[in-house]
Amino acid sequence: MKKHTVKSLAELRATGVPITWLTCYEYSFATALDSTSLDMILVGDSGGMVALGHADTVPVTMNEMIHLASAVRRGAPNKFIVGDMPKGSYEASDYDAISNAMRFIKESGCDAIKLEGASVMANRAQAIVESGIPVIGHIGLTPQSSASFGGYRVFGRDSDEMESLKLAVHNLELAGVFAILLEAIPPQVARVLSEKASSIIFGIGAGKFTHGQLLILHDLLGLYPSFRPKFAKCYIPDVISTFISNLGNHENLISFGRTTRQDGLHEITRLAVEAYVSEVKKQSFPSDDYTYKD
Ligand code: KIV
Repeated sequence: MKKHTVKSLAELRATGVPITWLTCYEYSFATALDSTSLDMILVGDSGGMVALGHADTVPVTMNEMIHLASAVRRGAPNKFIVGDMPKGSYEASDYDAISNAMRFIKESGCDAIKLEGASVMANRAQAIVESGIPVIGHIGLTPQSSASFGGYRVFGRDSDEMESLKLAVHNLELAGVFAILLEAIPPQVARVLSEKASSIIFGIGAGKFTHGQLLILHDLLGLYPSFRPKFAKCYIPDVISTFISNLGNHENLISFGRTTRQDGLHEITRLAVEAYVSEVKKQSFPSDDYTYKD
């Protein structure tokens, strides 16, 4: 599969076929993702929790993100990779925002960056866009600043929050972002925002009406024991019988494993990712079971 560009992603949005996006934080899983039809990868600061063991994303540093993103780039040379700006790497000044975004591109080979924050971060987004780096905004539940907004919760249920989400999409688009991620937003609110947007609207916990979906790889694989939000689907039960029956067709499993490497987690990951891609493309994920109520 040919690596996406900002242009080809916009073209894909125009076809109406949802765009598929997953997080990843290290080399071997990245090689599995690279071998699938997934459209994009996010090296999220959620890696601070699922890969580094922090309780939240606040302590994650720029050096840690570069380290994780460089490994993902080595494993997934054919995927469009987005680096997630960690807390403290962009808020204080345009200078910080540009120089840290530039580090992502130059030191780890990311194709774009994502930053959290509604209208107040539009200036930072604009500064990065003007330095020649594609930017994705992230609004709704923004985990880096969740302490200021009453913790992890759904955003946009009352009219004030809905108006501020509309304003944020408008301001981020004026700033030049090519896409915006909506996190934990009621589906009909996400639908209105997506219909009006000129950029690509992605959702995680925002229902099925956005132009693309994001999921955390460790949720898809059921690999993170501490917490699983409502919108997270584990795809392992869907693919495990296919995996086992593929093994059953081979009498000598040792030689099958040695020659194909399809006897373990790499193959299960590949199957689970393809199941996710297929459901998103058909718009059967996220179903109501994985969607917040309006
Ligand atoms: O870091 C991340 O993976 C993210 C998602 C939670 C949206 O930003």
